[in-house]
Amino acid sequence: MPDRKPVVIAIDGPAASGKSSTSQWVAERLGWLHVDSGSLYRALTAAMVRTGRPPETWSGAEIVAQGPRISLRAEKTSFSTLIDGEPADDEIRGGAVTAQVSRVAQVPEVRAWVNARVRQAAESHDVVVDGRDMGTAVFPDAPLKVFLVADSWERARRRLTQRLERGPTDDEIAEETDLIVQRDAKDATQTLQAKDAVLLDTTYLTQAEQVERIVALAHAVSHRPDAT
Ligand code: CDP
Ligand code: CDP
Repeated sequence: MPDRKPVVIAIDGPAASGKSSTSQWVAERLGWLHVDSGSLYRALTAAMVRTGRPPETWSGAEIVAQGPRISLRAEKTSFSTLIDGEPADDEIRGGAVTAQVSRVAQVPEVRAWVNARVRQAAESHDVVVDGRDMGTAVFPDAPLKVFLVADSWERARRRLTQRLERGPTDDEIAEETDLIVQRDAKDATQTLQAKDAVLLDTTYLTQAEQVERIVALAHAVSHRPDAT
């Protein structure tokens, strides 16, 4: 635990803009921990999918009641998200969860629950947090906020390359682009760029370049006399 108030870097942006991987990499470079707020929305959604009940019947109270089953465990460079004490990465990134998560994330009680968990993680560690509203609703005073964007075709290409571990065909990219554009629309109300966020278009950047830019910004901020 740092002997001063922990520092937060907030990285927001739409689906597959590179938030998670970039945040993880930046956290490693700074020796901080990465918190993925989307994984908490996904874990609550996965817990509800496990009930087998139709998503239209899920109430906010029932979704939040799954909360005690979800935990964040601090590891070397990140917090991992557990369901019933077990990692559930493949499940929470799967299609069944992705199809329902935007709807779950619109429920105000759910947002309050996730925000409280993320703030709690940031009480004891310097963190790089990623999501949609980290720089606005959750950490409005963060000394560095970055909003990542990239062209939807490029985001689809990257997501498929990550998932398939090979170069996707144009038809596959076109299909994934549709899904990404649909999720952008479903997430529009909760994806908020802070006025003081640095906008970084990564369409023509490599992952290493975007990490370098954010690490440089982090160093600039931490050398400012008013930095927390
Ligand atoms: O990685 P990807 O951008 O596909 O999604 P994610 O970060 O894992 O987030 C999954 C879903 O959670 C998003 O589609 C949003 O609906 C929701 N979310 C949110 O509303 N607010 C956040 N701070 C993070 C995620
Ligand atoms: O968290 P989010 O959904 O915003 O994206 P991600 O899962 O971090 O990134 C999606 C994929 O894009 C990952 O495989 C990254 O390595 C890759 N990528 C990138 O983020 N930036 C680039 N300039 C090139 C590839």
